Amino acid sequence: MQWTPPYDPAKHGLLPLLARQGRTANWFNTDDGDPYGEPNVARWSSHRTAKTIPFIYRRAVAERPEISNWLNTLTAEARKQQAQRGAPVASVGRGPSLLLLGPTGVGKTYEAHAAIRELAITGVVARWTVTTAADLYAKLRVRHGVDSEAEFQKYATSTILLIDDLGAAKISEFTEDINFRLINHRYENALPTLFTSNVLPKELTARLGDRVASRLNEMCQPVVITGPDRRRAVAA
Ligand SMILES: Nc1ncnc2c1ncn2[C@@H]1O[C@H](COP(=O)(O)OP(=O)(O)OP(=O)(O)O)[C@@H](O)[C@H]1O
Ligand SMILES: [Mg+2]
Repeated sequence: MQWTPPYDPAKHGLLPLLARQGRTANWFNTDDGDPYGEPNVARWSSHRTAKTIPFIYRRAVAERPEISNWLNTLTAEARKQQAQRGAPVASVGRGPSLLLLGPTGVGKTYEAHAAIRELAITGVVARWTVTTAADLYAKLRVRHGVDSEAEFQKYATSTILLIDDLGAAKISEFTEDINFRLINHRYENALPTLFTSNVLPKELTARLGDRVASRLNEMCQPVVITGPDRRRAVAA
């Protein structure tokens, strides 16, 4: 990771995230020349993250406390592992997963990108892979010149993965197979995954199959988001 010069966290909507993590702008801009120090990792990670967060979520700050709690669990474990191994930086490894559930427009994707932003400013390294379920299936369709299995492995083994809109795409044998293989791999290896889904909690089994639902049940903390469709509120 590179030394990243100090920059104004306010310009990138990072102050509320720093506050949630008990950090200040001064901490973020600690100019001690240590590339492995947490403030530099936070600047480097936030800079990289800003390039990948979709425009409408670029200032997202999670409202649900379960998001910060989940991130705190992951970062505490990362720091524990770092201390045990004497590693130069703390990196997210194994840990629990989170399942954000709720109807259209309540803010599931917003909360998910807020989580990515918040983890970036902690100074713990987290290599996210981000996809919607529909994009994932599209990328994994067998096509000439594409090694779909290698592509699948990128998602299955990613350190930390966001799967947005699980259960929203049309079901087929192909999507069922991908869901099972992907979720089973992440379940067996305790790889932290953030899922969002429109599916009602009581319909998860019917929609995703009992073997997938059972694994999600064990590996994820469910967070049910309720409320109006925020898109309609904006339009009104
Ligand atoms: N806490 C929030 N503060 C401000 N704006 C928000 C918040 N949560 C969501 N929004 C905005 O509301 C809109 C809908 O949010 P989002 O896209 O996250 O919904 P969703 O639950 O993922 O919907 P869908 O199921 O259709 O994917 C977006 O414009 C988003 O930026
Ligand atoms: Mg969404």
